[in-house]
Amino acid sequence: MSYENLLVETREHIATVTVNRPKVLNALNRKTVEELDACFRALQQDEDVRAVIITGAGEKAFIAGADIKELATYSPQEAKECSFRGQAVLNRIENLGKPSIAAINGYALGGGCELALACTLRIASQAARLGQPEVKLGMTPGYGGSQRLPRLIGKGMALQMILSGDPLSAEESLRWGLVNQVVPPEELLPAAEGIARKIIANSPLAVQYCMEAVEQGLNMSIEQGLFLESTLFGMSFATEDMREGARAFLEKRAPRFAGR
Ligand code: CAA
Repeated sequence: MSYENLLVETREHIATVTVNRPKVLNALNRKTVEELDACFRALQQDEDVRAVIITGAGEKAFIAGADIKELATYSPQEAKECSFRGQAVLNRIENLGKPSIAAINGYALGGGCELALACTLRIASQAARLGQPEVKLGMTPGYGGSQRLPRLIGKGMALQMILSGDPLSAEESLRWGLVNQVVPPEELLPAAEGIARKIIANSPLAVQYCMEAVEQGLNMSIEQGLFLESTLFGMSFATEDMREGARAFLEKRAPRFAGR
């Protein structure tokens, strides 16, 4: 499937999705949001794809947010619908069932930061800047930033970012746990691919259950979360992969996971 504003390439079970509107710093217009929805729907169904990397085209930006040219024309109702649409796509990414890695090569602002927040992991180049500048435009975050950011980095720093609108540098983002790793620009994609390869060497079902335990558990009470964990732990014992993993350990060899 080809897209107007996305480039998608799959190699060795890792799909790399590049948002490709470099002239406007990869801003997310409606068309791009729709294409991301279709793209992630297809990636979810594609059994050959076991991990996804998302990045931005060009040297300067990951994604500089929702397209302000479009936002400027919206009525309150249209803005609300735009927010619902964006949130739905980011929910799809968060609940993909396969790990997603944001390779943040430059500005990740507004909707761009929010898209990175919906990914499983975030790696930034030293040149990256992450922020929620919506208040500078007289608006609020609309693609989940007010909810996912405090869950990831805590209420205090999330409010500082959201209320000041000022971005964090890559190093500050690392210190606050907003990104997992900072690397020189030329090492960004190799580093993202390295992490993806490491994850997909493990049992796909166990990986999926682990992501579910953490993602769903964060929105539950500790009792409900622990119950979910026990349920998923039990489910993992119903997989061939678990039998193979344990057998391989005892036979002192590498496991061969079938994803069943
Ligand atoms: N929407 C539309 N166009 C954008 C854009 C955006 N979010 N960000 C950048 N562009 C365009 C610029 O208008 C400019 O286009 P022209 O060449 O036609 O003038 C081009 O990209 C290059 O940008 P700049 O000349 O501004 O580049 P710079 O290096 O001087 O500044 C920047 C870079 C600091 C990222 C600056 O572009 C900027 O502040 N962009 C807007 C960031 C922002 O506010 N994002 C939040 C959007 S609202 C949102 O996302 C709501 C939500 O939660 C869903």
